[in-house]
Amino acid sequence: MPEQRSSIHGQWSSRFIFMLAAIGSAVGLGNIWKFPYIAGENGGGAFVLVYLCCIALIGAPIMMAEILLGRRGRRSPINTMRVLVREERAHRAWSLLGWGGVITGFLILSYYSVIAGWALAYVFRAAAGTFMGVDAETVVAQFEGLLSSPGSVLAWHTIFMVMTMVVVARGVRGGLEMAVTFLMPALFVLLLILVGYAMSLGAFEQGFNFLFNLNFGKVFQVCETGASGVEQCRFTGEPMLIALGHAFFTLSLGMGAIMVYGSYMPGKTSIASATLVIVAADTIVALLAGLAIFPIVFANGLEPAAGPGLIFQTLPIAFGAMSGGQFFGTLFFVLLVFAAWSSAISIIEPTVAWLVENHGMRRVPAAALVGILAWFLGIGTVLSFNLLSGEEFQLFGKTLFDLIDYLTANILLPLGGLCIALFTGWVMSRASSLDELGMRDGIGYRTWRFLLRYISPLLVLIVFFNAIGLL
Ligand code: TRP
Repeated sequence: MPEQRSSIHGQWSSRFIFMLAAIGSAVGLGNIWKFPYIAGENGGGAFVLVYLCCIALIGAPIMMAEILLGRRGRRSPINTMRVLVREERAHRAWSLLGWGGVITGFLILSYYSVIAGWALAYVFRAAAGTFMGVDAETVVAQFEGLLSSPGSVLAWHTIFMVMTMVVVARGVRGGLEMAVTFLMPALFVLLLILVGYAMSLGAFEQGFNFLFNLNFGKVFQVCETGASGVEQCRFTGEPMLIALGHAFFTLSLGMGAIMVYGSYMPGKTSIASATLVIVAADTIVALLAGLAIFPIVFANGLEPAAGPGLIFQTLPIAFGAMSGGQFFGTLFFVLLVFAAWSSAISIIEPTVAWLVENHGMRRVPAAALVGILAWFLGIGTVLSFNLLSGEEFQLFGKTLFDLIDYLTANILLPLGGLCIALFTGWVMSRASSLDELGMRDGIGYRTWRFLLRYISPLLVLIVFFNAIGLL
C-alpha cells in the first residue's frame, strides 16, 4: 500500500521542516535576481500581471500535483514515475518525465552556480566597503569589471559548486534544516529594510507604477524604429512565454525538485495548505525585490532593461548611500548566497537520489560526480559574459548562457509541468489523487482537478503556440 511506503533517503523531521525546505528551494536567485531583470526587460506591469496569473492558475495546481506524485512514489523522480506508471497501469513513456528532469537539472545548476558566484563575490566587495558613496556609473563599471575576468568568475563558481555539493553529500536534511530556519526569515527582514530605503527615494512611486501599471502594448508588441524613421510594431508572444517559464522556475516546478522534496514529506501533512504557503512566500519575496530595485533604478537614471546585471548595478548604490550600508550590504549578499544555496541543492537532489537508489552509490561520490559535471557545463556561462560574448559566438542572437536559460526555463520546465499536469489529472485515478491529497471530494478538490486537467495544460499550450507565432 502506498501509505506504508517510505523513502530510503529518510524523511523531513516535521511538516515545518518540509515547508522550510520547499520555501528554501523556491526562494532563490529566481526571485531576487531574475524576476526584477526580466520584469524590467519586458516592460513591467503587464508582464507582472501575466506572471501572477501563471503562478495562480498553472503554478499552484502543478505544485500540488508534483508534491502528490513524489509523496506517493517515495523515490527519486525517475523511480517514482516508474512505480506510479505501474500502479496506475500507464504507458511506460511517462517515466521519461524523470529523465527529462535530470537533464534539466544539470543545465539549470550549471548557470545557477555561476550567478550565485557573482553574489559571493559581492559579499566580499560589500564587506570591503567597495560601495561606499558610489554613483551609478561606478557601480556599472564595478560589475563589468567582475564579469570581464573569467578567472575570478570561474573561481567563485567553483566555490559555490563545492558548497552545494557538500550539503547534498551530507544529505539534504543535515545541512539544510538549520540554514533555512534562520536565514530565510532574515532575508525577508532585509528585503523589507531595502524597500524602506526605496520608499525614501523620490522615485518610489515611479518604481511602483512600473511594476503594477498595466501597459499591455509592451507585452504584446515589439516596436522598432525602421530606417525610414517610422516606428513599426509587431505582435510577439515571447514575453508571455518568459512569464510562464519564470512561474515554473521560481516555484522550482517541472523537473522533479519539488517532487523529490515531496517524497521526503511526512504522510499526514496537507499538500494543499503547504502549497498555498510556499507559493505565497515565493511571490511576496519576488514582489518585494521588485519594489526595492525599481525605485533605485529610476532615482539614479538607470536602465530597467539592463539585463542579468540589474541587481548588481542597483543595490550597491542603495547600500553605498544608506547609513550602516556596509553592514546591510554584506548581510544582504550573504543571505542572497544562502537563498541560492538552498535552491541549488534542490536542483540536483533528484539526480543524486537516483544515483543512490539505482547505482548503489553513496551520497558523497554521487554528489561529487554530479557537481563536477554541472561545474564543467557552467564554464559555458562563465565565458558567455566575456570571451564568448561576441556575436560570432552567438546562436539566434543569444549567448550560451541565454540559450541554456531559454531552453530550460521557457521550454523544458513548462513541458515537464505540462506532463505532470496531464499525468496527475488524466492518467492517475481519481481515487489515488484523492487519497494522497487526503481531501474530501468537495469543491476544493474539484477546483484543483479542473485546473489541472483543463486550465493549466491549455494555458501552457496556448502560450507555447503563441510564442512560436502559430496562434
Ligand atoms: N526556484 C529557485 C529560484 O527561484 C530555483 C530552483 C530551485 C529551480 N530548484 C529548481 C528552478 C528546480 C527550476 C527547477 O531561484
